[in-house]
Amino acid sequence: MPGTILLVGCGKMGGALLGRWLDAGVADRVTVIEPNARLVPDDRRVTVLPGPNALEPTDAPEALVLAVKPQVMADVAPAYRSVVERGAVALSIAAGLPLRFFADIYGAQAPCVRAMPNTPAAIGRGMTVLVAAPHVTQPQRTRCERLMAAGGEVAWLDDEALIDPATAVSGSGPAYVFLLIEVLAEAGRRAGLPADLAMRLARQTVIGSAGLAEASDDDAATLRRAVTSPGGTTEAALGELMGEDGIARVFERAVAANMRRSQELGS
Ligand SMILES: NC(=O)c1ccc[n+]([C@@H]2O[C@H](COP(=O)([O-])OP(=O)(O)OC[C@H]3O[C@@H](n4cnc5c(N)ncnc54)[C@H](OP(=O)(O)O)[C@@H]3O)[C@@H](O)[C@H]2O)c1
Repeated sequence: MPGTILLVGCGKMGGALLGRWLDAGVADRVTVIEPNARLVPDDRRVTVLPGPNALEPTDAPEALVLAVKPQVMADVAPAYRSVVERGAVALSIAAGLPLRFFADIYGAQAPCVRAMPNTPAAIGRGMTVLVAAPHVTQPQRTRCERLMAAGGEVAWLDDEALIDPATAVSGSGPAYVFLLIEVLAEAGRRAGLPADLAMRLARQTVIGSAGLAEASDDDAATLRRAVTSPGGTTEAALGELMGEDGIARVFERAVAANMRRSQELGS
């Protein structure tokens, strides 16, 4: 059943989600608060307002989606207290901000849900993890799940502590994959390929491998072994990637750095 949504912040992630809600028909009316009105799609179901003061005192959306940067959330979120008091579930997608941050603003018993989506949500291929405060009702959970599922797959966490490692894997993960395309293309260029061709080969290899991982019943390790003949060229390359200073250690450090930053943002 479509409903009414108040979206605060229509940048990269808020805008991606909004596009999916409209495409998937999960919201029949969305009010967007966003200083840069040109970021908001021109659609008869969408109303853009410059700030919370322009809301009607009777406006009662079913969900308040907070999609501004974590650094400004403490200044932005309190203006929507009355919307939560009128029954909206508060759904934050901000990295690093714990449920207790929103409980401090909206009250200990307020229905708050924290979600961590990723940018492939823009094409309905995202991965979102969600965690709810204990007193969030089942209909409110369903409402939040429906909003995030418009962007792809969703998984609920029982333990909020897991949202930081989930952020480090799937929330930020698309950046790691795009970097993989960049560095693989650059290595190809340095090895003599024309830059355009190297980029095309690297990009299509990542796209094709992701598609194969999705289409196949085999796990990633089995798919990797299927490309790796003993004594062959792939095995020689994997010797470097999987060595002592290889990609596993680099990713361990990257995930740890990501989680440290989540903790800094949340404190
Ligand atoms: N991008 C991702 O991959 C990703 C993934 C998961 C979660 N997130 C989370 O999503 C949130 C948004 O990230 P983003 O990458 O979409 O950032 P973004 O592109 O900067 O979007 C935030 C938008 O909110 C606007 N804004 C600033 N103050 C506002 C206010 N008072 N009221 C309404 N809108 C306001 C910003 O305008 P100005 O630019 O003029 O300030 C900007 O257009 C963050 O909390 C982030 O942690 C992002």
